[in-house]
Amino acid sequence: MGAPPAQASYICARKFFTMARILTGIQSTGVPHLGNALGAIEPGIEMSQQAGNESFFFIADLHSLTTVKDAATRKENVYAVAASWLALGFDVEKNFFYRQSDIPQVAELTWYLSCFTPYPMLANAHSFKDKSDRLSDVNGGLFTYPVLMAADILLYDADQVPVGKDQKQHLEMTRDMAGALNNAVGEEILKLPESVIRETVQTVPGTDGQKMSKSYGNTLDIFAPAKVLKKQVMGITTDSTPLEEPKDPDTCNVFTLYQLLANKEQIAEMRQNYLGGNYGYGHAKKALLNLIMERYGEAREKHQELMANPQLIEDQLQAGAEKVRPIANSVVERVRASLGY
Ligand code: ADP
Ligand code: TRP
Repeated sequence: MGAPPAQASYICARKFFTMARILTGIQSTGVPHLGNALGAIEPGIEMSQQAGNESFFFIADLHSLTTVKDAATRKENVYAVAASWLALGFDVEKNFFYRQSDIPQVAELTWYLSCFTPYPMLANAHSFKDKSDRLSDVNGGLFTYPVLMAADILLYDADQVPVGKDQKQHLEMTRDMAGALNNAVGEEILKLPESVIRETVQTVPGTDGQKMSKSYGNTLDIFAPAKVLKKQVMGITTDSTPLEEPKDPDTCNVFTLYQLLANKEQIAEMRQNYLGGNYGYGHAKKALLNLIMERYGEAREKHQELMANPQLIEDQLQAGAEKVRPIANSVVERVRASLGY
């Protein structure tokens, strides 16, 4: 037992800096699309590359049991998501990449935390209210979802948890649960994490101009076969301005998507093409498709290779589990002892 380990500190080039442990969970709900790549995967990888950070990224496949009941689908989704992180360059040697269900200590910690969680706190969670309004299967797992999420975080003494705005309340609940347990045992057994809210990440529009989302069927599937991706790009909704006429780049979905991927010169040139006339939406879509293929060409190949050989993904996840298991064991041991088990 004892207090949680202090953050590891390093003296480097006469500068003092503290190693931050970054942790985040990724639900496995299908094959990631362009919105997921630009909004979550690439920023996550960038954050993991900053000196002084060590990143714990895991696939939240126990959370996905609240909605996905078919085992084969859940397994396939885990691989599709893991393959995307690996294909886009997440460094699993330097960091920690694992599957939630491989570390069952998380379920034990969930139980302890749930006994320090007031019922009204769970009943008032926005995300539960939202899901219970929308879904037909309102199960206990949906209700206790925030406790499992708190256990995910507290099990690894995480310092910072990058999440979207919709998860902010879950982080506040995590801190409340940790504080309640610490208070009850009279010792700082669990480390209180900070949330890092991604306010600035742009919402990537889908082919119909709404937020790109699997649930709206408007995705650009960067890992799909070339034919499928081409059809999606060519299907982006545009207005009916004739080819010869000038077009307004600032109200066009194709241009918005192009801007997210192109460099300054390419953007300026495309703007001129729109304003100059004699440039059709078909041309712009082809340019966008080329850009996607260029940017993700290598990642697409790698993704395909991994999906054709899931054992490679499995090996990475197992190796990740081996790396994090001792941390989970020591934290859960600390909690057990503090509670007298
Ligand atoms: P979906 O809406 O397709 O089901 P998820 O909710 O599973 O996507 O999102 C997974 C991650 O990707 C989240 O961090 C979310 O913020 C990010 N993300 C999803 N769609 C977009 C988008 N259109 N633009 C930017 N980020 C997105
Ligand atoms: N609930 C998060 C989401 O829907 C996923 C998640 C599960 C998570 N466990 C976590 C995020 C722990 C951060 C930390 O996006």
